[in-house]
Amino acid sequence: MRRPIIVGNWKMNMLISSADKWMIGLLDKSHITDQADIVIAPPFTALAVLRERIKGSKVQLAGQNMGSEPVGSLTGEISAAMLKDAGCNYVILGHSERRQYCAETNALLRRKISVAYEQGLNIIFCIGESLDDRNNGRTHDVIKTQLSSGLEGLGISRLGQLALAYEPIWAIGTGHTARPEQVQDVHLFIRSWIKELFGAKCAEYTRILYGGSVTPETSTTLINQSDVDGLLVGGASLKPNSFYDIINSLV
Ligand code: PGA
Repeated sequence: MRRPIIVGNWKMNMLISSADKWMIGLLDKSHITDQADIVIAPPFTALAVLRERIKGSKVQLAGQNMGSEPVGSLTGEISAAMLKDAGCNYVILGHSERRQYCAETNALLRRKISVAYEQGLNIIFCIGESLDDRNNGRTHDVIKTQLSSGLEGLGISRLGQLALAYEPIWAIGTGHTARPEQVQDVHLFIRSWIKELFGAKCAEYTRILYGGSVTPETSTTLINQSDVDGLLVGGASLKPNSFYDIINSLV
């Protein structure tokens, strides 16, 4: 049985004060399920204050990105150890916005994955096709390439620290949520790939999240697909109420 996971990705939103207010708003809710992992990925600047705020709660923190070296003269980078130090036990890697706008390549991401593992961070590795890929029937090929370059050669024991997030680029921030059957099709494809490479047991326990314009209106149908184990939520995570409603679509 895979434990569901709901992740809020705030991207480049929220000042420290608004982040703290958001978290107070969420923690004020009468009941947050303990049947799922609830993870927030705030901007780096808000991590320290949220680390204090979530103490004793069920909420966990993620970095939205991470440097590709464990330590060194890399101006502007945040290391895996720094993320841990700031209260994160997750890191999001390979988000399409970073692939697209920050030129993150499959090779770089492979390196980041190794570094994150070494530091004991749980990884949410994002993959997904463009609209052009989908329209030209290349979805599975693109997903396969991203999976292979990110994960091939990893020790099976390390897969326990990894979740995959299927995020079709055409669905991110566009309001066009992928249809449940499109999501299930790709999730099943991903699980079959894991089975082929790492065996049935790994395929059974690896969590696969969906992300792309998830809202409280669409979350229940998505999470009810048999191979959807969680949701990665951008825009709809910016308000504690709608994020809370999405969490509640699990129950
Ligand atoms: P969105 O973003 O929910 O705003 O589409 C999702 C993501 O980019 O992770």
